[in-house]
Amino acid sequence: MIFEPELMTFADGRQVTAENWADRRKEIIDILSHEEYGYTPAAPAKVTGTVVSTEKKMCAGHAVLEKTEITFDTPSGPFTFPILYFRPNDGGKHPLLVQICFRNSIYDSYWSPEEIIDRGYALAGFCYTDVTGDNGDFESGIAALYPRDEKTGWGKIGMWAFAASRVIDYLAEKPEIDKDNIGVCGHSRLGKTALWCGAQDERIKFILSNCSGCSGAAYERAKHEGGETIADITGKFPFWFCGNYLKYAEKPEARPFDQHFLIAASAPRYVSVNSASLDNWADQYGEQLSVIAASPVWELLTGTGYNGVKRRAKVGERFLSGNLSYSLRDGVHFFSRNDWNTWMDFIGKHI
Ligand code: GCU
Repeated sequence: MIFEPELMTFADGRQVTAENWADRRKEIIDILSHEEYGYTPAAPAKVTGTVVSTEKKMCAGHAVLEKTEITFDTPSGPFTFPILYFRPNDGGKHPLLVQICFRNSIYDSYWSPEEIIDRGYALAGFCYTDVTGDNGDFESGIAALYPRDEKTGWGKIGMWAFAASRVIDYLAEKPEIDKDNIGVCGHSRLGKTALWCGAQDERIKFILSNCSGCSGAAYERAKHEGGETIADITGKFPFWFCGNYLKYAEKPEARPFDQHFLIAASAPRYVSVNSASLDNWADQYGEQLSVIAASPVWELLTGTGYNGVKRRAKVGERFLSGNLSYSLRDGVHFFSRNDWNTWMDFIGKHI
């Protein structure tokens, strides 16, 4: 299979090697920043958290729920947003999983805190619209606080990804957190966000995109029946991206990247791409193809990339043995327990 553009050569034609991969990764992040998601501002010097309420007997008494407000400085003053943090209370160190959520609720159907705690993780989540609205209003939340260039300034995906990194700033140094084993995940638009967050933030070891689709995991140049196009996504959600991305609505083949670049930018860390069998809009096979296309980077750096099939995956197949994985769950567009368990099974192999 031939994927374009070629991942394993620099823009100037040099071959990618293990020695120069760090430079190629920077080049890829620069391309994606300039052409798709916009540039992310520098991280703030300091991030603080204030616990505003505590519930002790969560998850059968195995975790404390700390509702916390995260605060940091921006060019226009401090910004604060709430997180839900389930802190295991057994006195040990735990890997941390951060979910970028659609809702600010412990009853969110897209997660199951007790099951995650029982598998030995600490869990944090925040609602994306508490960071900035999911709309074209760049005067809301964090969007209002940073200057933004129309063509190359960050879109909303970039802002939500930035917030996930600020959650990690606050939690990584806590005594109960094993900061060498941090994961970030999200579903759909927030799966795109998780991939962009993981691509940029090297503290994140495990990245899960669930049903992330167009402009997320899905390789666009081989668009499949019913799959969302760049024209569709930029028509409806232009504010997720930088201004430059909009020009590709009419000429997607002109992009100097495809979505395998996004996945590869997290190498040699661990990426898990999950799709759902009835989610054609997210283009399941396109998502698998990006994994196949990104695999050579892992093979070069670690000897083990994606170990699954190249033909279209069958429903229920999970290919978790490599450092880059793909799984196809039965069902519709949803972030299910099955998806969480697939991710935790994958992580468990690499901790
Ligand atoms: C829309 C959009 C997708 C996105 C999805 C979601 O369907 O077209 O790109 O992933 O919303 O976030 O649920």
